[in-house]
Amino acid sequence: MGLKQEIERRKTFAVVSHPDAGKTTLTEKLLLYGGAIQVAGAVKNNKIRKTATSDFMDIERQRGISVATSVMGFEYKGKQINILDTPGHQDFAEDTYRTLTAVDSAIVVIDVAKGVEQQTEKLVNVCRMRNTPVIVFVNKLDRLGKDAFELLDEIEEKLNIRVKPLSWPINMGDKFKGVYNLYEKNLQLFTPSKQTVTESITFNDMNDPSLKEYIGEKDAGKLREELELIKEVYPEFSNEDYSTGAISPVFFGSALHNFGVRELLDCFLDISPSPNQRPAEERLVSPEEENFTGFVFKIHANMDPNHRDRLAFVRVTSGIFKRNTFYYHVRLGKKMRFSSPTSFMASKQEVIERAYPGDIVGIHDTGNFKIGDTLTEGEELHFKGMPSFSPEHFKYIVNTDPMKYKQLDKGIDQLMDEGVAQLFTGKKSGRKIIGTVGNLQFEVIQYRLLHEYGASARYEPINLYKTCWITSKNKEQLEEFKARKANNLALDKWGREVFLAESKFALDMAREKYPDIEFHFTSEFEEE
Ligand code: G4P
Repeated sequence: MGLKQEIERRKTFAVVSHPDAGKTTLTEKLLLYGGAIQVAGAVKNNKIRKTATSDFMDIERQRGISVATSVMGFEYKGKQINILDTPGHQDFAEDTYRTLTAVDSAIVVIDVAKGVEQQTEKLVNVCRMRNTPVIVFVNKLDRLGKDAFELLDEIEEKLNIRVKPLSWPINMGDKFKGVYNLYEKNLQLFTPSKQTVTESITFNDMNDPSLKEYIGEKDAGKLREELELIKEVYPEFSNEDYSTGAISPVFFGSALHNFGVRELLDCFLDISPSPNQRPAEERLVSPEEENFTGFVFKIHANMDPNHRDRLAFVRVTSGIFKRNTFYYHVRLGKKMRFSSPTSFMASKQEVIERAYPGDIVGIHDTGNFKIGDTLTEGEELHFKGMPSFSPEHFKYIVNTDPMKYKQLDKGIDQLMDEGVAQLFTGKKSGRKIIGTVGNLQFEVIQYRLLHEYGASARYEPINLYKTCWITSKNKEQLEEFKARKANNLALDKWGREVFLAESKFALDMAREKYPDIEFHFTSEFEEE
């Protein structure tokens, strides 16, 4: 098979959701279709424990598990499917966001009863930033939940996306009878007692009187009315609108009962994009280019001090990655080759000879890689799209062993390179602030500093709402702002200035008072 065909048959995506909406269950059902696992429960058993915990054995165990499930590859109907796991629960971290920069599309799972929840909003926000196409799966229709139309309104409003239902539920909870699939134009019947799909009947014409034989007169009437309404309210589905992220198809079903999952998968295979062009600072890189390029989007460290090696996750963006071939590490300006690159088929790691655009390769690393690093065949390229996000939890980090300053600095430095958290240094005070997306990171950092670098540190609270990068065309105003807010300025790890906003109110005030200043919440913005 040629490079072009290999690219076209690849689908690299992430399943994202707020904890408990059904991401794991859905992923598992998708893997079952691909024959990647034989029995339900295989992913589940590996599942990260949900309780907040400070048991460090648990942190280690979780990290071990998350590497096993970080990429799940399988073949289905001739396609190579790569599902990238997005850590949720309490290990929700910048890693989760960054994973989304390595996919070509996403499936968002929403609990029909709970609707759009906080983490879903954050994750879809990141998708929207890069126009990543999104398909929504409304889950748990076997339970009572929100009215489908209301839910669609909520999705549009909270996620700031336009939707188009491609399947439509017939009741829910005990009365759930199935869905009408607008994409395939067929009726999927569900029998709650048997908890399975019992029948799939093609209905091109909803006015066909035999509809009532399947779902009863009342529900047939209701379904007809609702489908009419859908036609009036929502736009025609167009693949182009979906692939530019302008519109998101919505499916309804129940992951637990494997209902609506095959329809979702089949439609997904039909419409979801294969690897496409990616912007680098220098130029657009097309997957069909002969020369290999790729970038590191995740680094997984081994917490066992006896095995310091780390695993760098490289997304192939163009050409063919080959084992034992010299590639150019752009940041370090040196050539390196990799003797045991791994792929993640069916959640077991295997050494691979080659990998194609869309694939994720695991490379054993002894400290050469940082998040965002680019590999090429010699070209000076820097891929865009590895932004840092303004963290949400902040603490001062304080050294508690005066003899170990160096170790602490080195440890913090390396952990930040891995993307565990972000470091800000107060411009006036010189104090170090750690910013994280999830709370668990603080414990992980403290533990790893001690066990891997022999440095002990403690945290002190800081009153901080957000950090934002600041730019302005109005240099005078920017200077005035900086002078006034000198105590609230810090430097990020690249030495760029950030504003430390103590509260939402303080941020709003600053925005109002200094209208020419732009406050950025991700590090990816045009310098002015
Ligand atoms: P997550 O990865 O998004 O956190 O969610 P997960 O798949 O673990 O699902 C969360 C809970 O919701 C699980 O129950 C799961 O069985 C249930 N669930 C998933 N899909 C459906 C569905 O379609 N219908 C119903 N009724 N429940 C669903 P749990 O009790 O937390 O776990 P378990 O004891 O079943 O393992």
